[in-house]
Amino acid sequence: MTAAANSVPWEFQHPMVGEATFPVEEVRRDFPILHQQVYGHPLVYLDNAATSQKPRAVIDAISHYYERDNANIHRGVHFLSEHATEEHEAARRTVQRFLNAADKREIIFVRSATEGINLVAQTYGRKHVGAGDEVVITAMEHHSNIVPWQMLCEEKDARLRVIPINDRGELMMEELPKLLSKRTKLLAVTHVSNALGTITPLRKIIEIAHSHGVPVVVDGAQAVPHLKVDVQELDCDFYVFSGHKVYGPTGIGVLYGKRALLEAMPPYQGGGDMIRSVTFEKTLYNDLPYKFEAGTPNIGGAIGLGAAIDYVNHLGIDNIAAHEHDLLIYATEALSAIPDIRIIGTAAQKAAVISFIIEGIHPHDIGTILDRSGIAIRTGHHCAQPVMQRFRIPATARASFAMYNTRGEVDALVEGIQKVKEVFA
Ligand code: ALA
Repeated sequence: MTAAANSVPWEFQHPMVGEATFPVEEVRRDFPILHQQVYGHPLVYLDNAATSQKPRAVIDAISHYYERDNANIHRGVHFLSEHATEEHEAARRTVQRFLNAADKREIIFVRSATEGINLVAQTYGRKHVGAGDEVVITAMEHHSNIVPWQMLCEEKDARLRVIPINDRGELMMEELPKLLSKRTKLLAVTHVSNALGTITPLRKIIEIAHSHGVPVVVDGAQAVPHLKVDVQELDCDFYVFSGHKVYGPTGIGVLYGKRALLEAMPPYQGGGDMIRSVTFEKTLYNDLPYKFEAGTPNIGGAIGLGAAIDYVNHLGIDNIAAHEHDLLIYATEALSAIPDIRIIGTAAQKAAVISFIIEGIHPHDIGTILDRSGIAIRTGHHCAQPVMQRFRIPATARASFAMYNTRGEVDALVEGIQKVKEVFA
């Protein structure tokens, strides 16, 4: 099978680089989990949008931390505590460089992208959104970028407005200016859709929002593993992502916020480390970023995330993006050639996520049968029920790719789907 771009049923806008230029077999050797059999077949892991696997460097960094360095940070005077603090803060600087944030105080460690969005909703949102105000989101958001805003709007008697999407799963940008007004206090948008793979025109959205004086929160959970993110170039006000989707551990995530905004925001949770001084009369809050990091943080998680980013940097995010784009084109062409398959999400700008349905076969059956051949995909609404409603389907099957996937694994997926079809023939 060849991956000629012009035989894909729609036009992608991305330079294409072949697999040969990316050392995928070498990369695979770094991921111990990939080398196992599932039901007697080699594991083909295509559920990377849910969580990615971890390279040895990340596993080792976490083990090393617990074997040699474990201590609570920031408050200790002893050797281990100081060392653990240094490692934790080094991870913060790694994240700062990864996002090209202007200042390390703009990097807040949180539990996940979800927690980052909730933090912004509960602090900036509660302070600035009032009765009759509006928050704008899009029709392709994950529930984590819908529900926190709904909760805020309910509490404040504000209104949620939604930028619609077209049949390809692209934002209808012409609708955006019509949704912005003096009442709009915030715009929240995903960088990459987890259900459709669409890459949103973030720079343009932010420019338009800012021209109306509206700050923008970006859900980058599905973007940072796949494309270069530069928060200064984007000029976004807040950007969140989860460590576990970018080859790091679960339970650690990042909120980036412009310093002036973070300085002016009330704290999120109260507790140790987020204070400067406490009396029963008054508490003075700590400086950034600690003001938003109450309690003992996930120290090992932050160190693991730092190691994951080092690993990505070592390969080069642009090289990873090119390899994954090659897989996207190859897989799109192969899947499109199978009768009765419909791909949901055909945006010109896509990350390597393919949602699909097969006429007459429920997505859960597709997933279960593929699993018996060792192929892990995800089926369901992908925590994006409004996307399913938009396309009038209950669910999709979704194959999502990472840097360690190969064209051979795409071939295995295609073969597996043929088997599924035979079962239901
Ligand atoms: N948000 C994750 C996904 O898309 C869980 O699968």
